[in-house]
Amino acid sequence: MSNVLVTGGAGYIGSHACKALSHAGFTPITFDNLVTGWQDAVKFGPFEKGDLLDRPRIDQVFAQYAPIAVMHFAALSQVGESMSVPGKYWRNNVMGSLNLIEAAVAANCPNFVFSSTCATHGDQDNVILDEDSAQIPINAYGASKRAIEDILRDFQGSDGLRHVIFRYFNVAGADPDGEVGEFHQPETHLIPLMLDAIDGKRDALTIFGTDYNTPDGTCIRDYVHVCDLVDAHVLGLKWLQEGKQSRVFNLGTGAGFSVREVIEHSQTVTNRPVPYAEGPRRAGDCTKLVSGSSRAVNELGWKPHRSTLKQMITDAWRWHQTGHYDA
Ligand code: UFG
Repeated sequence: MSNVLVTGGAGYIGSHACKALSHAGFTPITFDNLVTGWQDAVKFGPFEKGDLLDRPRIDQVFAQYAPIAVMHFAALSQVGESMSVPGKYWRNNVMGSLNLIEAAVAANCPNFVFSSTCATHGDQDNVILDEDSAQIPINAYGASKRAIEDILRDFQGSDGLRHVIFRYFNVAGADPDGEVGEFHQPETHLIPLMLDAIDGKRDALTIFGTDYNTPDGTCIRDYVHVCDLVDAHVLGLKWLQEGKQSRVFNLGTGAGFSVREVIEHSQTVTNRPVPYAEGPRRAGDCTKLVSGSSRAVNELGWKPHRSTLKQMITDAWRWHQTGHYDA
């Protein structure tokens, strides 16, 4: 069996990736410091607790498992927090990734799949963002991810470390089998917060800004199902195994939904009202982020199956009602 080192494998996207990797015949080795991840979410392969700022610990795990590839999900990812404590993002995301990249090179691990973000593109009014769109991040989270993309390009040049970079749009939904799902503490993402508000687990949802330059005044996002997203990662890994060139792929559906439209869909799916209030803008939010994802479809053969808003909210709602991790 081929081992794949999955940093952040105890987190939301990483845990779904571990399931997809194991179904595709790989053994996912989860490396996670459990700061934002959950040990309960590690179900599909061995768990190694560790921090990416601890280089000797990373080297130890490479030596123990000799992975054929790295899938690097571990990161701090709250846009708002990244604006108030940017140093935490630069240190954790960039220095941690540099340690990991240097360890992969030292261990002769040739393939690197990296979890980047559409937030690297910044706020480009009404532009469909494809892989060649400018990268002008407006928050420290996006800036930290763009820096890691640059580091990967440099190490491709110096050491031949080949990479696939995926820039995610807004990831939503949960494993339809209910084995893993989305659980952040604190939660900052729209759909889980909305579901909490629907069943009274927290107060009304606040819409962050109603004066954006969009048809209904609220921000527009492109939502992609977590299962479709991790399928693309398995395809990316196979791409690298076939010896293909390093490549960037944007992952979204090309359809944008406003916050008010997500509220409407949630009410339809759950058949319950979403209690909400209108509030001021959140620092660091872009007006509209919509993907041009034809490269992933045409070159990787990516076929998103579950990425309708209705399906994503349905799967998230099922997980919300039945799934949980012990905090
Ligand atoms: N929103 C609200 N109220 C809330 C939460 C969110 O109105 O309580 C709005 C936001 O302002 C935004 C939309 O809902 O317009 C989606 O917000 P999320 O917090 O769910 O996600 P983001 O758009 O902030 O996602 C960004 C990047 C992703 C990145 C993610 C990391 O687009 O690439 O941050 O958290 F992965």
